Amino acid sequence: MTIPASEFRYVNGELYCEDVSITELTTRFGTPLYVYSRNHIEKQFMEYRTHLREDGLVCYSVKANTSRAILQILGGLGAGADVVSGGELYRAIHAGIDPSRIVFSGVGKTDEEIEYALRVGILMFNVESMEELENIARIAADLKKEAPVAIRVNPDVAIPSHPYISTGFKKAKFGLPEDEALEAYSFAAKTPGLDPVGIDCHIGSQILSLQPFEEAFNKLKEMVKHLKKDGLNIRYFDFGGGVGIKYRDSDSPFAIREYANLVNKIAEESGTIPILEPGRSIVGNAGAVIVKVLYVKKTRFKNFIITDIGMNDLPRPSLYDAYHEVVCVEAVEAIEDREMKEWDIVGPVCESGDFIARARLFPEVQRGAYIAVLSAGAYAASMASNYNSRPRAAEVLVDGDSYFLVKGRESIEYLIKDEVGLEVKQ
Ligand code: LLP
Repeated sequence: MTIPASEFRYVNGELYCEDVSITELTTRFGTPLYVYSRNHIEKQFMEYRTHLREDGLVCYSVKANTSRAILQILGGLGAGADVVSGGELYRAIHAGIDPSRIVFSGVGKTDEEIEYALRVGILMFNVESMEELENIARIAADLKKEAPVAIRVNPDVAIPSHPYISTGFKKAKFGLPEDEALEAYSFAAKTPGLDPVGIDCHIGSQILSLQPFEEAFNKLKEMVKHLKKDGLNIRYFDFGGGVGIKYRDSDSPFAIREYANLVNKIAEESGTIPILEPGRSIVGNAGAVIVKVLYVKKTRFKNFIITDIGMNDLPRPSLYDAYHEVVCVEAVEAIEDREMKEWDIVGPVCESGDFIARARLFPEVQRGAYIAVLSAGAYAASMASNYNSRPRAAEVLVDGDSYFLVKGRESIEYLIKDEVGLEVKQ
């Protein structure tokens, strides 16, 4: 059982996050419990900040982890935000991130969301279709504003990642093919209410090779040259998400520095200001979700460790067949002496797709033991739901030897608080 590079480690045989014992946290706050390391988040963000050209902007991708505390930390370090909904825009602004450092992506922006973004004055809309562009122009003209826009280009590159998180292949719903993007730019250039200020792409997430990025960025660089020749003042080059992370020993992501060097070079060659939208690589390995073993069930056919987190708390394994390292919270030396068996580590949700790990070698544990599911800082709490009427878990941020409960555990009353039964006729 190895721990991906992070602030989770064993101290005197017990799992710690930074200088805080996980057992202390579970005793105070119960389980399931998401635990995040402030230090890891800051360190990862600063890698981007230090290596990206000084005038470049690191727009944290809010969808990875929407916690207000995390947004406050990153905003305080100078991060902008990449948002994909009015809700994320609201969260980012309320955590103190200046709208002039926010980019808004996504294929389905509603009129209300567009109006909200125009009123607060975001840096730019990453526009994904002709109809969206026309709609933004209309709303901006009604508000007597000029909307700063970038066209999201779909560069049609193949990437080695799960198909659900690949976005830059030609039949994906995202962006416009190069030729159609050029048409969108000429429409934007002549339409009142639109100011084409940038170019954008995002080819996918958890990519462990630089090559597809290089291919995509070079295509966009040529487009920028072409657009500039046509008289458009393209100032911003939004390169999309960040680097992939290490979920398991065999993952070998490239360094943030290498990625930033590539981005800086393309920005230089295209005479643009670089923007990056990293999410996973900032928060992914900053977090773990701590769970309790409810039952150990051994049948003639299979062994199960049944825990108190379900696919509603950590949907990644069920959705993408994703691998998360799983370790025990208690004394590691004691565990290593125990016999390893193959287990399915599962949750209480009533679906066979509800699992954390399948056919995993793991020591024999007992009912009541605590387990940490690692690399759960990104796309875990932010993707959690109330399926099976399960209140969402609490979240704690650790900072050295202190910690903050940054989101309380939902109550069962919360589950029905907005529901109206048949008592009130509409
Ligand atoms: N920018 C845009 C436009 C995006 O769509 C995304 C992620 C990012 C930035 C951030 O990418 P990152 O730096 O995190 O790779 N739920 C999936 C991941 C979905 C990613 C969607 N887009 C998962 O759990 O793997």
